[in-house]
Amino acid sequence: MEHSVESFRTRRLVAARLRADDWAPLFRLHRDRRVMATLGGLQGPEQTRSALRQHIDHWERHGFGLWAFRQRSTNAFVGRAGLRHVEVGGAAEVELAYALRAESWNRGLATEMAAAILERAFGALGLANVVAFTLTSNRASRRVMDKLGFRYERHVLHAGLPHVLTRVTARQRAAPRPVREPRRPGVTPASGEDHDDTDVSACNADPNRPRLRAPSVARSFPASARAISMARGRTASSGTASCTMPRVTASGAG
Ligand SMILES: CC(C)(COP(=O)(O)OP(=O)(O)OC[C@H]1O[C@@H](n2cnc3c(N)ncnc32)[C@H](O)[C@@H]1OP(=O)(O)O)[C@@H](O)C(=O)NCCC(=O)NCCS
Repeated sequence: MEHSVESFRTRRLVAARLRADDWAPLFRLHRDRRVMATLGGLQGPEQTRSALRQHIDHWERHGFGLWAFRQRSTNAFVGRAGLRHVEVGGAAEVELAYALRAESWNRGLATEMAAAILERAFGALGLANVVAFTLTSNRASRRVMDKLGFRYERHVLHAGLPHVLTRVTARQRAAPRPVREPRRPGVTPASGEDHDDTDVSACNADPNRPRLRAPSVARSFPASARAISMARGRTASSGTASCTMPRVTASGAG
């Protein structure tokens, strides 16, 4: 892996900081329901333009941000991932964010991107820790966090929806950590952080599916149960949700 910040290569991918001419592949990503189901819903061309402007601005202000990742072999756009300032759970944090074209899922590419990004976060950028957070129902994203060594911290409401907040520190990342085996269906998770796989979110893209109750969320946020149910109502009508960074990307891109 190369060690520069603005652009670098991994085993299968080449990364370059997002630029204005990445609009077209980013827009295609934003038009894919499978991808955007966990990122606040589909985005139009103007929302994508605005999100891209914010990503570019983030790079200018902070010296890091999101990268576009392309296949080394074909130069085809695979997705975008990176680091960004965000307020989550009432605190200012730096978040690891990632989203890939659905055709590229489940090949270890998000993990490959994120591992290279963390190397820069804790190396050249000198960050002490990085958070990642996702809807409690986003199992693929939670698994990526797990593989990277992020540790469960707490449940938070973000954009009015239940999320898990995880964190990895430079020190933890430096220590080798065994990767957990993929979970088999029906096997009860051993660690406490996994009890709350609430299948409640704006990610429930099927409007014909009955709304699922989330008793475990109510357990985690007894005082916020009403807020969550209100958020569900907002989600149903507005399609905004989830895994997003509202303070930085008003468009809601995650
Ligand atoms: C989340 C996302 C980035 C993962 O990308 P990816 O390239 O498929 O990730 P990886 O292949 O590195 O790892 C995915 C892991 O999740 C597992 N996984 C996938 N779907 C799963 C599910 N429904 N339940 C449990 N595990 C699942 C995979 O098996 C794999 O684990 P393994 O290596 O132990 O087999 C991708 O699904 C995506 O872009 N989703 C839409 C945007 C999004 O949700 N971004 C995250 C916002 S917080």
